[in-house]
Amino acid sequence: MEFKTKKLLHGGDYNPEQWLDCPDILEKDLDMLTEAGCNVVTLGVFSWSTLEPEEGRFCFDWLENIINKLYERGISVILATPSGARPKWLADKYPEVLRVDSERKRALFGFRHNHCYTSPVYREKTAIINRKLAERFGNHPAVILWHISNEYGGECHCPLCQDAFRKWLKERYHTIEELNKRWCTTFWSHTYNSFDQIESPSPIGETQLHALNLDWKRFVSYQTTDFIKAEIHALREGGSKLPTTANLMYYFNGLNYFELAKAIDVVSWDTYPTWHKQEVIETAYDNGMCHDLMRSLKRKPFFQMESCPTSTNWQGISKLKKPGVLFAQSMQAIAHGGEGALYFQIRQSRGASEKFHGAVIDHYGGTDTRVFREVCHTGSALDKISELAGSNVKSAVALLYDWDSQWAMEDSQGPRNKGLHYKEALLKYYRGFRKLGLNVDLVDMTGDLTDYKILAAPMCYMFRNGFEEKVRKFVKNGGIFVATYWSGIVDDTDRCFLGGVPHGLMDVLGIRSMEIDGLYDWEKNSLIPVSDNLLGLDRTYTCKYLCDLVELRGAEAVMTYGDDFYAGYPALTVNAYGDGQAWYVAADAEKEFQVEFLRRIAEKAGISCGVEGEIPEGLEITTRENSEATYYIYQNWGSQTVEIPLPKGEIQTLYGETEKGLEPYGLAVLKV
Ligand code: GLA
Ligand code: ZN
Repeated sequence: MEFKTKKLLHGGDYNPEQWLDCPDILEKDLDMLTEAGCNVVTLGVFSWSTLEPEEGRFCFDWLENIINKLYERGISVILATPSGARPKWLADKYPEVLRVDSERKRALFGFRHNHCYTSPVYREKTAIINRKLAERFGNHPAVILWHISNEYGGECHCPLCQDAFRKWLKERYHTIEELNKRWCTTFWSHTYNSFDQIESPSPIGETQLHALNLDWKRFVSYQTTDFIKAEIHALREGGSKLPTTANLMYYFNGLNYFELAKAIDVVSWDTYPTWHKQEVIETAYDNGMCHDLMRSLKRKPFFQMESCPTSTNWQGISKLKKPGVLFAQSMQAIAHGGEGALYFQIRQSRGASEKFHGAVIDHYGGTDTRVFREVCHTGSALDKISELAGSNVKSAVALLYDWDSQWAMEDSQGPRNKGLHYKEALLKYYRGFRKLGLNVDLVDMTGDLTDYKILAAPMCYMFRNGFEEKVRKFVKNGGIFVATYWSGIVDDTDRCFLGGVPHGLMDVLGIRSMEIDGLYDWEKNSLIPVSDNLLGLDRTYTCKYLCDLVELRGAEAVMTYGDDFYAGYPALTVNAYGDGQAWYVAADAEKEFQVEFLRRIAEKAGISCGVEGEIPEGLEITTRENSEATYYIYQNWGSQTVEIPLPKGEIQTLYGETEKGLEPYGLAVLKV
């Protein structure tokens, strides 16, 4: 099902159930929502105990009343299913819905996001209320989208989940012999005689079979997605045809979002960057990469479901968002292909654990607050650029990000248990491309590569079945492939490849990785350019953490190591293969290396974002397009006003004053 909006969405999570005894406050909220230019709210995320105060007694009138009032104001509703937090009566009567932890201890009632995904009772109770919500509100003209539960995550080790895990394994491996072989269980005599003997990983049991750990993660992801499908199925049974979303989380490690995204119609996510902890632009790259990941999950527009209007109350330091940051953060979601920027939350709760979390309407309750004014400003800007709704982000560059590979790599005991710095490595490549104003998609190993000109795959530890063939074809057809150290080491059950690595690509890359050196935190090596190298690189860069020792098998060395017993060994190599080119970066180089290296590669290949002149420091450029135009979106994350480099063609200004330059946290949108 398609999710289409004519306008960019602006609004957020709203919890009127906390204020049902204060009708004057609810009335005032409506006025304030209108004043802030909000066109949507999310309702019902944690409303189960108000919607069904006792088993089988449903109270939906309050919700209908609020939905009607919002509708009169032209405010749409994203309606949640309430499974994110269950009522007490449910936990008391059916304890099987409570999660069991990895030490096999069952939780008491409390908190949220902690139900068993396998429990037939929980699935049934969820299905009943979802069906009823769908019957009552699934065709209400205000309701535009289902918000399935809230921030899925976590795992349960109860007997029901163990059984489901065994069943899942049996479907995957068919025989116990095959499982033993793929998991390498003869190691330490951990061989299984039957599927019934298998237990999920536990600190008081098995943790050393990496393939078991990996399959457990895959199972948790599968089972959670299956639960989502069951929730959606109930909505369909209730007669609703509305599209669905789930609010995902920042690079969340616990679920394979590429798989989960297949179960929903539109991706949304909750973003809480810690601004001002480092240079603002660096946080913007990190947040931007996550926006790009979310967009890439379905290669379709997504939206920002939650963000804090000012400080959160759960981060180590509750930093206020400085003036302009709320606006800039919201606009970044749009720049990267989002259909809206929503907040958590509209009205600040009065008690319990989030009473000091930032909100559009705080405990003071007036419109004369700094935050409220910023929300209004953001709302009016979103309105002015609303023609961006439905336009797409097209990228020539893909960055590989694969959950299975990351899970396996982070679990494996290898060259650097003290920290592989994987996400930092990814970000260095991302940053290099973004400094050129290039859009970037993130793809996993199942992704289609045909539309890309460059594929960068830092630390691609696992080669899932057939990946090397896909890369070979990509390069053969003219693609530029950038691989790094610690790549192509294991297969998809984390068994090491025999006969040399990077597996299956030694001829494409023209090298073999022989050994890898883990460096102490304080240690450094360097990458020195070879004279007259084909990229014209002329600076020495430092590298840390991991240094791969490679032998040339046809590739050309472009840089070499400066120190240690491997001084003079190749550190950056290139090999021509088919119509394309395969690069190998042997070490974790400092971030300025990627900037220079990727700039030169892109220039040589004629890949650019289409603006003329230098892109100043701190300026982010993103493009969105539709059948009529290409939109150039500029955001200044620096502290000085900067001039913006213009694209070629007939330019119309949709937002911002381009002649005077772009002020800090400012936005300019040009239509070409
Ligand atoms: C998450 C949740 C919200 C709220 C916010 C607070 O994103 O989905 O319910 O707790 O965090 O930042
Ligand atoms: Zn369970």
